[in-house]
Amino acid sequence: MGKKFELLGVSKWKDGPKRAELLRDINFTVDEGLISTIMGPSGAGKSTLLTLLNRLEEPSAGQILLDGAPITQLEVVNLRRRVGMVFQTPALFPMTVEQNICYGPNLRQRREYPGLAARYLEMVGLDPELAGRDAGNLSVGQQQRVSIARTLANEPEVLLLDEPTSALDPTATSQIEELIRALNQKIGLTIVWVTHDMQQAARVGDRTMLLASGEKVEEGETKAIFASPQNEVTRLFIAGRLNGNGSKLNGDKGRSDGAGSESTGPEEEHK
Ligand SMILES: Nc1ncnc2c1ncn2[C@@H]1O[C@H](COP(=O)(O)OP(=O)(O)OP(=O)(O)O)[C@@H](O)[C@H]1O
Ligand SMILES: [Mg+2]
Repeated sequence: MGKKFELLGVSKWKDGPKRAELLRDINFTVDEGLISTIMGPSGAGKSTLLTLLNRLEEPSAGQILLDGAPITQLEVVNLRRRVGMVFQTPALFPMTVEQNICYGPNLRQRREYPGLAARYLEMVGLDPELAGRDAGNLSVGQQQRVSIARTLANEPEVLLLDEPTSALDPTATSQIEELIRALNQKIGLTIVWVTHDMQQAARVGDRTMLLASGEKVEEGETKAIFASPQNEVTRLFIAGRLNGNGSKLNGDKGRSDGAGSESTGPEEEHK
């Protein structure tokens, strides 16, 4: 199996009166054809890491390779076509569903064919009849599917997902999880899925990385990470006892077995 992305000693900081370190010396591989989940508490640097992969932001140090070549060697538009991104809340253009889906292909002057929108609507499990509707009139769950359809219409090799279900109810969440898994299985799409929800990471991931306070804590096969975490911080996160700043929750007093009574789950569950 090939390596799609390779992050080599990637750091990100923001200069200011006080330098903010967002990511520190991250080494990480995204395997081709797998779903890699990046989990971690709020503020861990998950979104920051994702934005480096399609150059919405640039690393302060280190290098990122796509198919073995530095992403800085690619034209940004070309990179973003190959590496599509879906955000936490659907950000559709105020146009029809069809115009949204055909936006990328039109932009690249790829010849549009009748039924392009219908094909992608079907792919994301929506009624092709929705093509003529104003995107803004759809439910949030439908809009998120249209966002995914619009991204897929660019025929990306990698799909970056930044908490794509956190604005959705449990039913819509399961539907999106099934949809993404089906896309991964059927067309072998490589997925990088950011989530603060460890249960979601466990459900959808082939490989999982835990990020806390801008550092990679642990990485491995998802089943192994959850069955036998090697790191104390991973054990705390899985037990729902890790603060956003990477410290233990107040009152934890060093317990590592997750048996304390103060917390019942991940603190960011209902963001
Ligand atoms: N421009 C900036 N300048 C300084 N600090 C920043 C900047 N942008 C983000 N940060 C900080 O970097 C850290 C990581 O932010 P990031 O959005 O990547 O976290 P996250 O893991 O995606 O969190 P969430 O789960 O809440 O989305 C946070 O502490 C945030 O406040
Ligand atoms: Mg985020």
